[in-house]
Amino acid sequence: MDRTFLMVKPDGVQRGLIGRIISRLEDKGFKLTAAKLVQVTREQAERHYEEHKGKPFFENLVNFITSGPVLAMVWEGDDIIVLSRTLIGKTSVTEALPGTIRGDFAAHTPFNLIHGSDSPQSADREIANFFGPEEEVQYDKSVAAWI
Ligand code: GTP
Ligand code: MG
Repeated sequence: MDRTFLMVKPDGVQRGLIGRIISRLEDKGFKLTAAKLVQVTREQAERHYEEHKGKPFFENLVNFITSGPVLAMVWEGDDIIVLSRTLIGKTSVTEALPGTIRGDFAAHTPFNLIHGSDSPQSADREIANFFGPEEEVQYDKSVAAWI
């Protein structure tokens, strides 16, 4: 079982898309193990996006992600890092295909609604930036054998 850090960004929270975004993740059969609404601090945002430090869009990205509350989450599932990024869709709104979250709901960068970790190492780092180990809840879903 793999885990990832998924975050509904401030635009998704403001637009009332939390429920629909979570539904897509539940529909896929992923398991939610932690969730909370967070006002991201500047330091936390810079840690979250540290691989983009120095890039021309970094400042705007940090401003955006700290501009309102986000829904921080941990989800589990086999191959969830690749599968969840496929559900999320491409970074660029002009390339995100219909059927993906970004393809269906996002129209301008950086308002692309949801973040997903891009590797197991990123997932570990990003989860630790938002959650303590005691905040992740381990439980069985009886339906797991059918997914
Ligand atoms: P995240 O889930 O936010 O990490 O998106 P991603 O993994 O699809 O993209 P990436 O990590 O490469 O970039 C992080 C964020 O920076 C994106 O969501 C965009 O908002 C922004 N971004 C990335 N590349 C560009 C770019 O070339 N121009 C601009 N303006 N923004 C960019
Ligand atoms: Mg990324």
